[in-house]
Amino acid sequence: MQITIIGLGVIGSATMQDMINTIKNKKLDWKISGVDINKDRIKQLKEQYKDEECIGYFDTQIKKSDVYIISVYTSDQVSQVLKQIPKRAKTKPLVAIESTVSPDFIKNYLKVYQRLFDIVVFPHRFNPNDPDHAVFNLTRAMGTDDDAVYKRAVDFYKTFMNPDLIVKTTMFYAALSKVVENSYRYIEISIAEDWKMECDRIGIDFSELRRVANSKWNIDLKMAMNGIGGSCLPKDVELLSNYFSKSKLLKSARNADKTYKSYCKKKK
Ligand SMILES: NC(=O)c1ccc[n+]([C@@H]2O[C@H](COP(=O)([O-])OP(=O)(O)OC[C@H]3O[C@@H](n4cnc5c(N)ncnc54)[C@H](O)[C@@H]3O)[C@@H](O)[C@H]2O)c1
Repeated sequence: MQITIIGLGVIGSATMQDMINTIKNKKLDWKISGVDINKDRIKQLKEQYKDEECIGYFDTQIKKSDVYIISVYTSDQVSQVLKQIPKRAKTKPLVAIESTVSPDFIKNYLKVYQRLFDIVVFPHRFNPNDPDHAVFNLTRAMGTDDDAVYKRAVDFYKTFMNPDLIVKTTMFYAALSKVVENSYRYIEISIAEDWKMECDRIGIDFSELRRVANSKWNIDLKMAMNGIGGSCLPKDVELLSNYFSKSKLLKSARNADKTYKSYCKKKK
């Protein structure tokens, strides 16, 4: 079995490391390779893994493989990668899109490639510096519109994770639920930011309000820190805002965060 991971940033390299560990622990005769357009990253990984027997190659070009895991950053980058995956005459390779992609991308773009590849959309719920929520030790939604492809993908991934953790759905719902999850969290944080500003305006203590309110079983008022950052939440709320284009709540949440960020800047 040849596995190729395309996009070796935070997600691609964490996935590669976990796969290497399993391949070694289970003594599998599988090879894993890595592709990235960043030459420095390739050089660094070649050095890091120079003694690993299960490594095939690291390169900027995609070669033939049985399984491709795509973990580049944006939907546009996923589409560039799909164009570059070598076509095979006999068996279709399995292609797992693990990047977060826009729902429009699934609707408008993927159909063409389903003729060439067995495709699943398998987004991450990886939480940096949180070993309990990493690559394979948590529930993840897997989307495909074809039961045979689903079976093939689960057969592959069950080597690395408990298949009971895989939630079956279509490609569209796998993609949409990923941006909904991050946007939901974004809205929760924006509530805290908005109410923190109101507390400051009126002259009351937001942390005391939060402590007392959160003592109720079904309340989880978030902390208001420095504004919503990181590489995922702002990007994914934008993806959902483009799709749920009339959502008043998404618009308000983004405005609240923008206002809160300038409020924090002024306070400094
Ligand atoms: N980082 C997280 O905690 C996290 C959590 C959940 C989901 N995600 C999602 O996972 C995906 C990957 O995120 P990340 O944080 O690893 O991003 P990243 O920016 O760290 O890594 C992306 C890598 O892809 C490479 N790349 C870009 N275009 C390429 C191409 N055409 N061919 C080959 N390589 C290419 C880049 O050089 C980079 O090394 C994103 O869609 C993100 O939203 C990330």
